[in-house]
Amino acid sequence: MASYDVIVIGAGPGGYVCAIRAAQLGLKTACVEGRATLGGTCLNIGCIPSKALLHASHMAHEAHENFATMGLNIPAPVVDWAKMQAYKDDVVSQNTKGIEFLFKKNKVDRLTGWATIPAPGEVKVGDEVHTARHIVIATGSEASSLPGITIDEKTVVTSTGALALDRIPASMVVIGGGVIGLELGSVYTRLGTAVTVVEYLDTLIPGADGEVQRTFQRMLKKQGLEIITGAAVQGVDVAQGKATVRYQVRKSGADKTTEAEVVLVATGRRPYTQGLGLEALGVRLTQRGQIETDAQWRTNVPGLYAIGDVVQGPMLAHKAEDEGMAVAEVIAGQHGHVNYGVIPGVIYTHPEVASVGETEESLKAAGRAFKVGKFSFMGNARAKATFAGDGFVKILADKDTDRILGAHIIGPAAGDLIHEVCVAMEFGAAAEDLARTCHAHPTYSEAVREAALACGDGAIHA
Ligand code: NAI
Repeated sequence: MASYDVIVIGAGPGGYVCAIRAAQLGLKTACVEGRATLGGTCLNIGCIPSKALLHASHMAHEAHENFATMGLNIPAPVVDWAKMQAYKDDVVSQNTKGIEFLFKKNKVDRLTGWATIPAPGEVKVGDEVHTARHIVIATGSEASSLPGITIDEKTVVTSTGALALDRIPASMVVIGGGVIGLELGSVYTRLGTAVTVVEYLDTLIPGADGEVQRTFQRMLKKQGLEIITGAAVQGVDVAQGKATVRYQVRKSGADKTTEAEVVLVATGRRPYTQGLGLEALGVRLTQRGQIETDAQWRTNVPGLYAIGDVVQGPMLAHKAEDEGMAVAEVIAGQHGHVNYGVIPGVIYTHPEVASVGETEESLKAAGRAFKVGKFSFMGNARAKATFAGDGFVKILADKDTDRILGAHIIGPAAGDLIHEVCVAMEFGAAAEDLARTCHAHPTYSEAVREAALACGDGAIHA
């Protein structure tokens, strides 16, 4: 038994960042993790392994589509799936080991096991009960399925199974046209799988900017994904290793089916609170099963905090990280703060899709007057050289003050470009501030500047 200032439960991006920051602020800190490796869903079975497969499959796509045009004449690449999986596992392992190193460097004690909270101020791991003045729950989320669907992680899989299939399937149905479905759906399309996405709503990526949704859907179709929108999945039947997905066309009410070798269920995630003993502690949950907190991540139980996917807000690693740092600062007596208005969202397909702040739709709904500055990557010299001219940058700014309210990018390196706008928004910048900032030529970032120019007197290369 040991006694700590802070015990963090969960070593995902929220938990491990919180533990490191708490230790850096001079607090005696431990972090409990049930998995054998650190890093949580993101590093082990989420963001990181999927990025390895996205990169590898993109390289295969480039070789097929663009190498010959650039005068690189090589035979078409043959995919060695076992090797690709080994590469992915190695990337994961480098990252999880990196967190082990950071824990040692920052003197965070690592406790291995599934934690419970038997009483306020106590954390039980295995047979040992440790005490802590502050406990932070950062237990993340798990894939949620639909009624009528049994996940076996072989034929009917969540993202976890989809990242570790024993073969590249000939066909796949993806249930849910959200972030997971489209990232993994595009990986398998590029590796030769016939992918069909079945989405309940009338558009993909609900909540995104409408123009981005339409452009993205067109691009994905061009890449070979079959997309069925407005279709409510009712269930999946598996027989002789083949899956039949039953769905209802929402407009007509017609019942239909589609078959595949593998079905990926990507219909969202739910907070993971099981086994912590929250009920006995009387911790208040929201209707959606999230742990209820105040603006400084305090639950209704004194000394108990919660951050990341287990509380409200977007289920994003970087949102959890920011909350992790901020709650550590709160515990250390500082003023931890997260600006929820400037949390970027990125879909790591090719091209990438990135957004921050308001959409045209949300501004219209709020009755706000705004202007739109848009610039196509067709007018960007760098994008032309890299076959990446399809897509655009759109900046939304207040009609009167020119203050930037949001940005939406679909195109090359969108996930990196968006941060220029995030920083500008964090500083309360006007579109003119971005437009008057010198941007190196030739870079993709020039498209961001051109979109900012388009909010004023006009873009130059449009
Ligand atoms: P999601 O919420 O992004 O998308 C789920 C989709 O499933 C929605 O479009 C929904 O309308 C659809 N759906 C629900 N019920 C359905 C039914 N019966 N039939 C057909 N479609 C149905 O959830 P997703 O993609 O599973 O991701 C889970 C979480 O993980 C999200 O919060 C996401 O932000 C996060 N994530 C983020 C990533 C990133 O930032 N790049 C990558 C992967 C996950």
